[in-house]
Amino acid sequence: MLSLEQVRQGLESAGQSHVLQFWSELSEEERDSFLQELSQLDLDGLKDHCESPARSAASLPSKLDEHMEPVPPEFIGSVKKSDQSALEEWENEGLLKISENRVGVLLLAGGQGTRLGVQYPKGMYNVGLPSSKTLYQIQAERIRKIQELSDRKHGSKCTVPWYIMTSEFTLAPTEKFFKENNFFGLESSNIVMFEQRMIPAVDFDEKVILQGKGKIAMAPDGNGGLYQALVDNKVLEDMKKRGVEYLHVYCVDNILVKMADPVFIGFCVSKGADCGAKVVEKAYPTEPVGVVCRVRGVAQVVEYSEIQQKTAELRGPGGELVYRAGNICNHFFTRAFLQDVAEKFKGQLRQHVALKKVPFVDMCGNHVTPTQPNGIKMEKFVFDVFPFSRSFVVFEVLREDEFSPLKNADGAATDSPTTARNSLLAQHSRWATAAGATLLDEHGNPLPPTASVSAGDNQAARCEISPLVSYFGEGLEKLLKGRTLPSPFILDEKRAKELQAQ
Ligand code: UTP
Repeated sequence: MLSLEQVRQGLESAGQSHVLQFWSELSEEERDSFLQELSQLDLDGLKDHCESPARSAASLPSKLDEHMEPVPPEFIGSVKKSDQSALEEWENEGLLKISENRVGVLLLAGGQGTRLGVQYPKGMYNVGLPSSKTLYQIQAERIRKIQELSDRKHGSKCTVPWYIMTSEFTLAPTEKFFKENNFFGLESSNIVMFEQRMIPAVDFDEKVILQGKGKIAMAPDGNGGLYQALVDNKVLEDMKKRGVEYLHVYCVDNILVKMADPVFIGFCVSKGADCGAKVVEKAYPTEPVGVVCRVRGVAQVVEYSEIQQKTAELRGPGGELVYRAGNICNHFFTRAFLQDVAEKFKGQLRQHVALKKVPFVDMCGNHVTPTQPNGIKMEKFVFDVFPFSRSFVVFEVLREDEFSPLKNADGAATDSPTTARNSLLAQHSRWATAAGATLLDEHGNPLPPTASVSAGDNQAARCEISPLVSYFGEGLEKLLKGRTLPSPFILDEKRAKELQAQ
């Protein structure tokens, strides 16, 4: 631990002397813990860190538009445009790799979820499904099911290890939650939780924000902090020990995520890709999602705000948007690629400026909860490694089947608990209908098959199918064909056994 004098000098040369302004008011204990916290800061790099938002703003890439092009079609796979046999081939390839224990999944769960606004990790959120399952439970059950499907196909017992990146905010509650829930039926030794780094939040005057008189406001370093965290926590070594060669990386908030999606993995592997991105077609030109494209011949995600409107609105001969590949934070990486990033490239990742509301103590020592963004958190993004890929591919999937993120609290028009819940229930209703069931609404009236299509449709039948029964709609015909299902209807393992016995 550094001495107070060393810390004082370090802060002074970084232009951050205000950090110690309440030192004389702190108790002995508070001083100890504050000094400990400050000793762990990179004081030499602090000046640079505080100035980085201004530097990033000044170095915003200009005239991207002129150098942009879509990813060429030969590097794109598509669920909609590929024939059934190609999709099956990719799926078989993916299931084979899974059965050989060569596939892992990695969850990015270090975010603070400030827009959703709950005090616990987002993965513990229950969006109000009939089963009351949380996001973590849904994901765990999908892992169990994909292991089972691979086992069944290849007659072996396989494991898909689950790597979970957390942060100071999410690690302890996530660990506790998993333990309390008996790891949702997974082997605890196959769940590897690790922590990403935290960095100080700064205000608009390049000053570190004090969260308390003896505490600075720290924030996780963005989901691109993954690459440093992999090194800090020896995660790549763990992957190597287990023989994991392919990793499916995803965000905690997408309720429809296909864990270790064999079709996506099989596609990427069969193309010899080292890095891949799942995308959905952008809904409209100004939709605030990043677009996967090439800039100066190199794969990249470009934000809507970085390009001109006329570029975003460009359309091809068939009327489709030229830049329609919407990034959904669902990536494929080989371990070899991640090793390369860890060794050579992680220091080159761009820093993004995120404006956030950061509670603070003002000059007079009053605690303030801001209503407007007052702070800057510098974040790295997980997709910023795409330019380092030597063989990059894109896989286009259907939004209604694979993407419905939980970002906002209820009341917001998009990406809320209600939209997430409805997306999942609508998908499961589609599966049940396709399997030959008739769904009833809450008053017992039959629903036309199309009623379940729209995620926002509040007429959608409340039909929920446990991932332990079906991973992606398969195997339902023998259970549901010709049946009339009340609403709500939960198809869990117990109910599936009963239906099978009838
Ligand atoms: P978001 O960008 O949606 O951020 O993260 P967030 O922190 O969850 O929510 P807001 O912006 O504060 O409302 C996308 C994904 O990246 C993860 C999140 O947990 C989520 O899965 N993430 C984000 C990290 O793992 N670490 C970070 O530092 C930031």
